Amino acid sequence: MRRRDFVQRLPVIGSGLFLGASGLTLQACGGIAYLAPTTAPGRLTVPRAALEAEGEAFVQAPGMSRPIYVRRAGPDGVVALLASCTHNGCQPSPVGGRLLCPCHGSEFSLEGRVLQGPAERPLTRYEVTEEAGDVVIWLDRVVGA
Ligand code: FES
Repeated sequence: MRRRDFVQRLPVIGSGLFLGASGLTLQACGGIAYLAPTTAPGRLTVPRAALEAEGEAFVQAPGMSRPIYVRRAGPDGVVALLASCTHNGCQPSPVGGRLLCPCHGSEFSLEGRVLQGPAERPLTRYEVTEEAGDVVIWLDRVVGA
């Protein structure tokens, strides 16, 4: 499904804010969408179609201080990274195929590896599974920890 087709199916509630029948919220901010997940203990779930429509997005549930950056990494996988810089906790954003931290210039690959400091540790990466049309981010399953 193309992004335009997906967005056209959602009723507009306010400027930049959309609500779909599933409770999904899309909120554009600086060119990247925010998806509001369905929450359950230890996991966040977003419709696969929403992620496919965007290609990449921030997923943020109420109470989270930083969102999770999620993107399709290929036909077999989805990468989910906590968007909290390991230097001092600022929120990196995708720019030109990297995640850039606005505070002190750290750069991370789209898989979370440090490309440039001052950060020394990779971004926290969560296990992701795909189930029945949904993408599930497992908050209690850190990859490479
Ligand atoms: S908080 Fe990201 S580089 Fe300092």
